[in-house]
Amino acid sequence: MSRLTVIGAGYVGLVTAACMAEIGHDVVGMDVDVERVRLLNEGHVPIYEPGLAELIEKNRERLTFTSDPIAAYREGEFIYVCVDTPPTYSGDADLSRVWQVIANLPPEDGHRVLVTKSTVPVGTGAAIQAELARRGYEHVAYASNPEFLREGTAIQDFLTPDRVVVGSDAPGIAERAAALYDPLGVTVLTTDVASAEMIKYASNAFLATKISFINEIANVCEVTGADVRTVAHGMGLDRRIGPHFLQAGIGYGGSCFPKDVSALKQLAGNSGYHFQLLTAVLEVNELQKRRVVGKLKRHLGDSLRGLRVALLGLSFKPNTDDIREASSIVLASRLLAEGVDVVAFDPVAVENTKAVLPTIGYADSAMEALEGADACVLVTEWPEFVHLDWARAKETMRRPVIIDGRNALDGKTLLGLGFTYEGVGVPITAA
Ligand SMILES: NC(=O)c1ccc[n+]([C@@H]2O[C@H](COP(=O)([O-])OP(=O)(O)OC[C@H]3O[C@@H](n4cnc5c(N)ncnc54)[C@H](O)[C@@H]3O)[C@@H](O)[C@H]2O)c1
Repeated sequence: MSRLTVIGAGYVGLVTAACMAEIGHDVVGMDVDVERVRLLNEGHVPIYEPGLAELIEKNRERLTFTSDPIAAYREGEFIYVCVDTPPTYSGDADLSRVWQVIANLPPEDGHRVLVTKSTVPVGTGAAIQAELARRGYEHVAYASNPEFLREGTAIQDFLTPDRVVVGSDAPGIAERAAALYDPLGVTVLTTDVASAEMIKYASNAFLATKISFINEIANVCEVTGADVRTVAHGMGLDRRIGPHFLQAGIGYGGSCFPKDVSALKQLAGNSGYHFQLLTAVLEVNELQKRRVVGKLKRHLGDSLRGLRVALLGLSFKPNTDDIREASSIVLASRLLAEGVDVVAFDPVAVENTKAVLPTIGYADSAMEALEGADACVLVTEWPEFVHLDWARAKETMRRPVIIDGRNALDGKTLLGLGFTYEGVGVPITAA
């Protein structure tokens, strides 16, 4: 078993640290956020990810946390970079945190492998290797090991991945980094660094394209009378297409798809290639979030000013408290601009959202959010919303209008209860 240092204790870093400890490695997690490290050392997990707190607790013997970079860097034979790479105003990836990690690498003190798990544009690994060579850091080898986990199912994704990708340009390094995953018994693809970096971007861009594609099909279904759920099912039975990522809705969000699609588009542009398809994928997604406003107007009238609209769900998907690029944020802001009295509820994401949207109202439960509402928009398909007592909800709402942004509710039952129900790409009468 090996000694690992994991830099960055966010969604990817914490899951990597906990899972690597679970399969027997000794792990030190390091983060610049001193408060985050204090919480972790006191047994609190600062993010919501199912099963993570239990896994960290279970592996305490092999897992420690520190905010001291020198101590952490000296500990690991493998140093995993899991810091955030958010978008800049230009749509490129902000690599400042990655470069900060490189700058802090200690001089000669034994061989180490620096492994980048953060999503970084193609060419970053080459630039890092050039910088290491410039500084005479022959003791540090480099590998790219992009991460494919999904928030909400991150631990299962890490421990039973479809594949692990490890890229290196130096002989034997990819194989050494790949061997860390041996206890998982999974398919590990070893490649060069640039290809590993591109596999990550291309995968996310393809999945985002699938979503924008089915969302456009849904929009055409709305004007032609077809039902996108039936269409997606029929398409997905074709093994060349597959059933995944064909759920129409009010757009994708999260900390990965929006920024990664944008970063790949910019990367192509910066390299002299105009990636037309991705421009459309991004635009379709932006418009999709806003289409809800038109639907509300169709049912409530042209002016929404002064009306109360309840948003159920704020996180970008269920089982996470992550609200980065969530559809809820754009939608709530559009509704505020229309003069709507917005009230929202989410089982775990309210605190995070308050920092971004301080002026909307927050309820303590779904039922409280629906009290006196002129309409409800289901933004995130948390199970508790699907199983809500909708008959009671109808009594508490001022007007029984539901816009189901995820096609997650049982439209027929809701119509039967007397609701006006509209999904995405679903004929209103069929529901
Ligand atoms: N979140 C996901 O679902 C997911 C999935 C696959 C890949 N990724 C990629 O993984 C990377 C991390 O994403 P995340 O969602 O875990 O980010 P995050 O924002 O949740 O966590 C990043 C952590 O890094 C810390 N940090 C920043 N600079 C640091 C430094 N110099 N030294 C030590 N710690 C530092 C921050 O304090 C923060 O705790 C990103 O590149 C992202 O694109 C994310």
